[in-house]
Amino acid sequence: MVNTRKKFSLLLVLMAVVLVIAACGGGGSGSSSEGGGGGGGQVDVGIVLPTKDEPRWVQDEQRFKDALAETDYSTEILFSQGSSAKEKENVDILLNKGIKVLIIAPHDGAAAAAAVESAKKDDVTVIAYDRLITDTEAVDYYVTFDSLAVGAAQAQYLVDNAEGSGVPLYLYAGASSDNNAFLFFQGAWSVLQPKVADGTFKIANSSEAEALKDTAELSRDQLGKVLGQVTTNWDPNEAKNKAQTHLTGVGADMKGDIAILAPNDGTARSIADVFASDDEVTNYVITGQDAEKASVQYIIDEKQSMTVFKDVRTLVKDAMDMAVTVLEGNEPETTGSYDNGAVEVKAKQTDVITVDKENVKAELVDSGYYEASEFTGLQ
Ligand code: BGC
Repeated sequence: MVNTRKKFSLLLVLMAVVLVIAACGGGGSGSSSEGGGGGGGQVDVGIVLPTKDEPRWVQDEQRFKDALAETDYSTEILFSQGSSAKEKENVDILLNKGIKVLIIAPHDGAAAAAAVESAKKDDVTVIAYDRLITDTEAVDYYVTFDSLAVGAAQAQYLVDNAEGSGVPLYLYAGASSDNNAFLFFQGAWSVLQPKVADGTFKIANSSEAEALKDTAELSRDQLGKVLGQVTTNWDPNEAKNKAQTHLTGVGADMKGDIAILAPNDGTARSIADVFASDDEVTNYVITGQDAEKASVQYIIDEKQSMTVFKDVRTLVKDAMDMAVTVLEGNEPETTGSYDNGAVEVKAKQTDVITVDKENVKAELVDSGYYEASEFTGLQ
């Protein structure tokens, strides 16, 4: 009996290995199967994340894996590697495996409409994760952080740390294909604009923003114009090149003690490196978001001023709770809604926390989010 059981377990392990290999072959980059239940290649919840190239999304994958260890439903995580075509392919792979719920952070919010429309045709419940999918009715729910608050927190930090008036302000933004980039900038603008208008800041690197300095609320079109000029496309290299070009293009009056709105940690580190290496920049205050480990170290080392901590554990929990509620035939709880251009998408939103050198240990280490041993020089 024991022997037969052993053989049976061995067979199951072998079958699992074959399945994983098959999934990798078909799914291309970065697939991983998690959770128990549903054998035979059947998957209950499909999760699609934008790219493994940014620590932010690798972090989400890890937090999903931690959460999935506790679920009885079978799940699979696929990465789209910054390609909408790959993303659509990933969704099709998961649909073929019979998923009933799709949790998806789109690479491009508008282009992802096609992928979620196929999911809807198969009666799959679609949950947009962190990034909204726009201009389609095929999104059921949205779990997100308060993205306007992210931008406002970044801007508030620059305002609180600005000394005197006429402080040169460098603006950077995320990718225009990401709805969040608009929300972050909009949130930041609501705090920065009055301080540009009253002379605290002078905009150093965007003629579009400069032209709008007396406009308190920007339309989507106006935001698009500014983003078009100061986008990093969420790419640290592009951010670095832009920062270099900006610094080369300005005179000494736009150097000295300066303020930099950097949209996230990945871009903040590369922009900070560029500004730090300019002798005429005497001091810079620079924002970020995501509390990536590398940026936590930068904050400890005083190379990045702050980050906006978005506790991914909460987002993952909300998304999985929502998925399980749907699988059990019930209606998930939501706290508001977001207009995606086609429908009001019911949403669950989470708050964010400003972290700088003062509270980095309390918020990110004492809270159990990271281990103290992952950093050096932590006080
Ligand atoms: C996310 C940020 C992330 C950025 C780049 C945004 O949609 O909300 O956390 O840094 O994308 O991946």
